[in-house]
Amino acid sequence: MKILAIDTSCDDTSVAVVEKKNNQIKTISNIVSSQIKIHAPYGGVYPMLAKRAHQENLVPTLIQSLKKATLLKSVSILADRHRLTQKGKVKELEKNKILNKILEKDEILLEKTVKFLEKYEKPKIDAIAITNTPGLEPCLWQGINFAKALAFGWNLPIIPVNHIKAHLSVNWLTPVGSKSKIKNQKSKQIEFPAIGLVASGGHTELIYMPKQGIFKIIGSTRDDAAGECFDKTARILGLPYPGGPAIAVLAAKKESGIKNQELRVELPRPMLFSNDFDFSFSGLKTAVLYSFQSQKKSIKESQNYKIAMAKEIQQAIIDVLIAKTLKAAFHFNAKSIIAGGGVLANQELRRQFKIKSLKLKIPFFIPEKNLCMDNASMVGTEAIISNLKTTNWQKIKASGNLNI
Ligand code: KG4
Ligand code: ZN
Repeated sequence: MKILAIDTSCDDTSVAVVEKKNNQIKTISNIVSSQIKIHAPYGGVYPMLAKRAHQENLVPTLIQSLKKATLLKSVSILADRHRLTQKGKVKELEKNKILNKILEKDEILLEKTVKFLEKYEKPKIDAIAITNTPGLEPCLWQGINFAKALAFGWNLPIIPVNHIKAHLSVNWLTPVGSKSKIKNQKSKQIEFPAIGLVASGGHTELIYMPKQGIFKIIGSTRDDAAGECFDKTARILGLPYPGGPAIAVLAAKKESGIKNQELRVELPRPMLFSNDFDFSFSGLKTAVLYSFQSQKKSIKESQNYKIAMAKEIQQAIIDVLIAKTLKAAFHFNAKSIIAGGGVLANQELRRQFKIKSLKLKIPFFIPEKNLCMDNASMVGTEAIISNLKTTNWQKIKASGNLNI
């Protein structure tokens, strides 16, 4: 079974082909078209710019993905000739009327999609998986409308996918290039009940999974998400967007010859000992702001101060994420911990998570760094691993809020 998967939930346009064969799920292609350059000047994602960029990027990203999967084939001369017959023209007109309706609000995408469907044959895939929740609604709609147009044009079923579940399910993907039996069995080692942590730019969720395909939220952030905290505090320090990788780079550096007491930074670990599985990161952001504002100009502009601050911000977030996840794992007697989301691309977080879970003898699973970030391969994997139902393309709607 082959699935074409699409994700436009935030600022990345991604299209993947994922295959299930011999009880393994593999990525055949996974193309991500990043919008970082567009949003960097604003210090965050600007939804209407993201929506427009999705319109521009969806067809080229699809072409790239199908090409990589060797599924892109131009229509045959015979089929092309048939299009020009009277019967062919009527059929085409009817088809374009419906495509016009599906993409009526997305002019750029409409033109590109009609041309694409005329030029290329229906690829050998079985269904289209599309993220329909949660995310930025204008962005979600771009992907949904595009998926609808393809589903209609190719007469294929469509599978709506939850982006947060997909961030966890990508752990069941067989790693690329893995041939050894041991590695291929990675998926079988994830035992239930499991605790899942998703930390990204928009979400910080702790999820209890009693068995495959069942997700129950047990804790969430009450304000900012962990990734959002990285992004906002980076901005305070004058670092570029996205803030997570920028802080990580700085935190990995050594301060040189620190003597000055003023350069020491201590930040709170919000809700570390609270009696639940919730998070809160806005207080951390405020603490960074106050500390920054209270410093002399010469200090806050010094590289040493920024390094010390980056280390402390990163460690504060790491401490809370790991402690709360382990607490949940104990509470629910979890046999595995699985993690995902952009923040989990953080090298120091990955390292400390592995050490702590090893000490406590709870198997810890985490995708490769590029699969932690938004990508469509995770969407295809979730569609397959959770055995999601196909539906009629007319019925799919976007929902910005998380509803598990
Ligand atoms: O999952 P993702 O790609 O998109 C959302 O669904 O939000 O996550 C993006 C978030 C951003 O806030 C970014 O700063 C953060 O993940 N991030 C990182 C790192 N790489 C990306 N945070 C910390 N360390 C990193 N290396
Ligand atoms: Zn995400």
